[in-house]
Amino acid sequence: MDKILVLDFGGQTAQLIGRRIRECGVYAEVVAGDSRAADVLDLDVKGVVLSGSPYSVYEKDAPHASADILDSGLPMLGICYGFHHIVAAGGGVVEPRESREFGRASVRFLNGAGGPLFAGVPDGFVSWMSHGDSVAELPDGCSTIAVSDTFIAAAAYEGRPVFGLQFHPEVSHCEHGRTILENFATKICGARREWDVDRYLSEASDEVARRVGSRDVLVLISGGVDSTVVAALLLATVAPERVHLMYIDTGLMRKNETEEVAESLTGLGARNLHLVDAAEEFFSALEGVCDPEKKREIIGDTFMTVLETRIAELSIPSDAILAQGTLYTDMIESGKGVGKRAAVIKSHHNVRSPLIEAKRLAGEVVEPLRNLYKDEVRALGRRLGVPESIIGRHPFPGPGLAVRILGDVTRRRCEVLREADALFISELKRRELYHKIWQAFCVLLPVRSVGVTGDARNYGDVLALRAITSRDGMTADVYPFEMNDLLEISSLITNSIRGVGRVVYDVSSKPPATIEWE
Ligand code: XMP
Repeated sequence: MDKILVLDFGGQTAQLIGRRIRECGVYAEVVAGDSRAADVLDLDVKGVVLSGSPYSVYEKDAPHASADILDSGLPMLGICYGFHHIVAAGGGVVEPRESREFGRASVRFLNGAGGPLFAGVPDGFVSWMSHGDSVAELPDGCSTIAVSDTFIAAAAYEGRPVFGLQFHPEVSHCEHGRTILENFATKICGARREWDVDRYLSEASDEVARRVGSRDVLVLISGGVDSTVVAALLLATVAPERVHLMYIDTGLMRKNETEEVAESLTGLGARNLHLVDAAEEFFSALEGVCDPEKKREIIGDTFMTVLETRIAELSIPSDAILAQGTLYTDMIESGKGVGKRAAVIKSHHNVRSPLIEAKRLAGEVVEPLRNLYKDEVRALGRRLGVPESIIGRHPFPGPGLAVRILGDVTRRRCEVLREADALFISELKRRELYHKIWQAFCVLLPVRSVGVTGDARNYGDVLALRAITSRDGMTADVYPFEMNDLLEISSLITNSIRGVGRVVYDVSSKPPATIEWE
């Protein structure tokens, strides 16, 4: 399949560049900025984009593209730092600006039109920039195509398909940004639009079949969309009797989660579904523990012990390959670019299990979703018949309800929270709000407060509701409920969940707060 490589120099929007190109139907892959041609260039690569970076191009540790990629003769598009990199490599000059500039800037073409990169883009469009440096002098053979009031906005080499943009076409605030990236990918690089879910599904199935061969395969199921989609892919590709699915019920799951997971996997053809009820192990390990990090550590360790013991009991063949739902975004260590991915283990508990480590070291792990973004995984899941109830479910943290019960995690408190949470979520669905919200849940606070029921005073739990909007969980805004919805949900909860005497709504964005409370 034709593809565009995006060299990631650590800029915040490197992934987004790949994303936007894929939205045009052209496959794009983001690789570490310092990748060598031998590792990443193949006949499918039709062009290269150099991303932005937090570095200045002359800084000591600034990342560089390898010379064999720069000299490959492929079409190139440098964005911000990527542009500076092309300029510096060609002998031009980049200068620091007095202060970083963020925001909108109108861009004018020098000759009234910007040539093939800007086909269909009107003169005077509004770009979006975020830069501390700008180009002071272009290299020989390179000339300005477009300017803003204060900087060279776009330049190109004459007779070579090498372009630079000072602004960021990938961000949604940049007008016609998508057209510019589409022009680069399809008109300048000539890449064919071959990227779609069906194609990915067929390539991923071929890869899985080849890697798994005649062996058995083990998938750890968390209940979330990623591991379920991997399971669905395996069940559609490998003989179902060779696919072992293991789901560990920690007792800290959402209401009916285990039943729903079992039902959906059975519906997808699972024959070897191992549902492990380990609630007792988790509750006793968590007894008396209030510190959030300690809770996470205990849950991770307990998960690992349960996993290793049960796998041994199940006598899954020792040469079984492990399949994981690692996503493209899981591969990225922020600020360093992809490629530095060695230690990434995607599992909802971040298991540092010796068994998994050994498989990873032996190259016995398949990650068929590793090139996908979350919504692409959802599309793939739909194509594979994964039920909508799993595909569209809000994210859930690996340590489960334990990090939503502030203070001591007991069975009773877990039960109160689980019931309240289920009621909150079902009300959101009934009110058609669930899919407008990125994540919603309840938190049980470690304080009790006085209430009055009938003529009696009581002393009940305090429950916080959390509902946020977000793109990726990195930042979040509070969901602005209509007051009536909040009031009705609050009274439903206090009327029907025994023990909860008071409901509060968390109105903190992220940052400064996080999404979860612990
Ligand atoms: P925070 O609380 O960090 O959450 O703003 C961002 C997103 O990550 C989820 N989250 C976790 N997921 N293990 C996970 O698998 C964890 O320990 C964990 N902590 C938070 C959270 O639900 C939100 O979607």
